Parts: sequence; C-alpha cells; structure tokens
Amino acid sequence: MSAYIRIEDLHKSFKNKNEKTEVLKGIDLSINKGEIYGIVGFSGAGKSTLVRCINRLEEPDKGRIFIGDTEMTALSKKELTKRRRKIGMIFQQFNLFDSMTVFQNIAYPLTLEKVSKNEIEQRVDKLLELVGLSDKKHAYPGSLSGGQKQRVGIARALANEPDVLLSDEATSALDPQSTLAILDLLAQINDELGVTIIMITHELEAAKRICGKIAVLENGVITEKGNTRDIFLDPKSSTGKIFLEVYREFRQEHTYSGGGGI
Ligand SMILES: Nc1ncnc2c1ncn2[C@@H]1O[C@H](COP(=O)(O)OP(=O)(O)OP(=O)(O)O)[C@@H](O)[C@H]1O
Ligand SMILES: [Mg+2]
Repeated sequence: MSAYIRIEDLHKSFKNKNEKTEVLKGIDLSINKGEIYGIVGFSGAGKSTLVRCINRLEEPDKGRIFIGDTEMTALSKKELTKRRRKIGMIFQQFNLFDSMTVFQNIAYPLTLEKVSKNEIEQRVDKLLELVGLSDKKHAYPGSLSGGQKQRVGIARALANEPDVLLSDEATSALDPQSTLAILDLLAQINDELGVTIIMITHELEAAKRICGKIAVLENGVITEKGNTRDIFLDPKSSTGKIFLEVYREFRQEHTYSGGGGI
C-alpha cells in the first residue's frame, strides 16, 4: 500500500527573544490510508508541533508534507483553508464553545460552509447518533461529563466528513473508563468511515489499544517506528523502554481492563 500521509525531512524551530529552539529535527513518516497511527513521546518532545505542522497551524521551516496527491506545504492560504476543512482535529481540553448547545457546537463548522439548515439538522442528528449523544442535543457543555464533551468534540471534528483526523491527547483529561470508551469510539469511526487517524498520546496503553503502528518521538527526532506490537515486545529507543517500564508498573498497581497480556 502506498502512503497516504507523507512527511519528509520536516524541521521546525521556535524563536524566543534571542534563543532559537529546534523542536523538530528532520522528521520522516509515512502513514497509510485508513490507519490509526500513534505518536508517543514525553512532554516537550514535539508531538503537538508535529501534528500542527500537518495542517499548517504551524508553518514548517523545511521539509514537505503530502496528504494523498496534495502537497500541503505547497498550498496557498486559500487552498489550505479549503483542504483544512477535510482534516478534523480533537484536543485534550475539548475546545468546545460553552455558550453554544451541543447541536450548535457540532453544527458550527457546517454553518461556516453555508450548508442549508435542513442538511445541517440531518447531519448533526446522524453524528449525535454515531457518538451516542442524541439525548444531549440541546444540552450545554457545562452540564456534560469529560467523556461526553469529547464525544461532542469528535462529532464536531467529523462534521465536514474529513479524511484525516488529528487527535492531540484526546483522552488525557479523562478517567480510565471514559478513556476506553473514547478510544473504542475512535476505532469504530476509523472502521466505519475509513478516516485515517493520527493519535498523539503519552499513554502507551491508549496507543496499544487502537494504533496499528506507532512512532516514538524523542526530543524532536523519531527514534523508532513500526508495528505497535513489535515495539511493545522489544522497544529499541530509550523513550520506548521507559514507556514500557512505566506501563508495566502501572499495570501491577492497577487492574486496568483492556489491553493484552504483554
Ligand atoms: N509557539 C511556540 N513558541 C515557542 N516554543 C514553543 C511553541 N510551541 C511549542 N514550543 C516548544 O516546543 C517544544 C515542543 O512542544 P510540543 O508542544 O510540540 O511538545 P509535546 O510533545 O506536544 O508536549 P506535551 O506532551 O507536553 O503536550 C517545547 O519545548 C515547547 O516549549
Ligand atoms: Mg502536546
């Protein structure tokens, strides 16, 4: 299978006062269509910067990014705005509008597209059903649990029928049970809608549950990538090894349902 998302020699630095910090130091990554691909690494490794470069919320300094036949890094601002509509994004803190109902939050990207009222109503109802929140249509985010808020975030991210979904620590603010439910929802969406998902996480358990492949990001460099199972069984990078050790210790202390017997 040829890669659907291709990242070639991606570099990104930030300048603060007189200091320049190199955050991404030559990233190469290939992700197939329909995969759920995990990016794991410690805080500050550059994970968010990497996914934000994919839809150019951050402008790369160097390198090329392709989604299908489109070179993201070659698009004009206008072309980029159009392409971005087909790239959904979900976040750790959900980023919902508190003054809008669940319906209005999910409908928001569609109202920007000038989709007709009827069509919006139909699409939002379908999305509510998909994420299991039909009974919360007129509720406000303030009255929802974290897991329910993330379901709204997911429905909103899917409103424009994206082919790619970027998930930045989407389960990190949730309790273990809600985490599992949201991970399973993402797997269901991937399966039913064929959306390619890039999932950033610092929870190896989460990556193991739904990601077929992972890349380990360490200080702006990918130190290993491949099948999740292989990396779990025999991590080569120092981050991979530490992650696995923490994961095992965690499993000894908690009875965490889900996950295999590694
Ligand atoms: N807009 C910015 N300006 C300056 N520095 C930034 C900016 N965004 C990120 N950085 C720096 O880049 C580095 C990587 O940040 P990034 O948010 O990509 O890491 P991360 O792996 O997502 O971390 P976390 O797990 O904590 O979310 C950090 O040192 C951070 O301080
Ligand atoms: Mg981050």
